Amino acid sequence: MDKIINNFIAEFPELNNLIDEDALIAKFIDKTKNLELHSDDTAFTTNKMESLKMTDYGVDCVRIEADEPLVAPLFEKLNYNTFWEDPFGWFIHKYNIEMQTKVHTDQKRNAVLIYPIVPKAYTIIYVDPADKQTEIYRHTYRCPTIINASIPHYIEDGNLEKIHFQISLFVNGTDWSTVVNENI
Ligand SMILES: [Fe+2]
Repeated sequence: MDKIINNFIAEFPELNNLIDEDALIAKFIDKTKNLELHSDDTAFTTNKMESLKMTDYGVDCVRIEADEPLVAPLFEKLNYNTFWEDPFGWFIHKYNIEMQTKVHTDQKRNAVLIYPIVPKAYTIIYVDPADKQTEIYRHTYRCPTIINASIPHYIEDGNLEKIHFQISLFVNGTDWSTVVNENI
């Protein structure tokens, strides 16, 4: 497959199958049961860098560090020289199928490595920063993909229960081709 790499997304099919997805779900789905409630979406990436339940997105987010054996193979592919802060992971379960991930721009982190699990394919839509409404780009996931988190975006995930793993990235510059080590 021809990799798509542009200002919005960068595909990394070589990162496929680095995670035992069933084991990851089995280990972390239970940890979502006792999460604290948060309604403030800035809590996710600014103040409270810890596991939380975000009721306004209908998601549970369990923080996972780079040394967790189930996801370590993915972190080991990253080129830490390209970061101004170390990355860390999230197991995210969108349990509320009636909600849709609304238009937002991520705080602090400027890129996110998305590793779709269930479903494998769903669509991210970028909107014009000026009106936060007009669609300027859309992409349906085909493999692990780095997304630009600094442009407003939403996810076409209404009516979906969704599970994915993601890594918060703090990337120097805008060239994502060097974020993943090709030769390791
Ligand atoms: Fe986002």
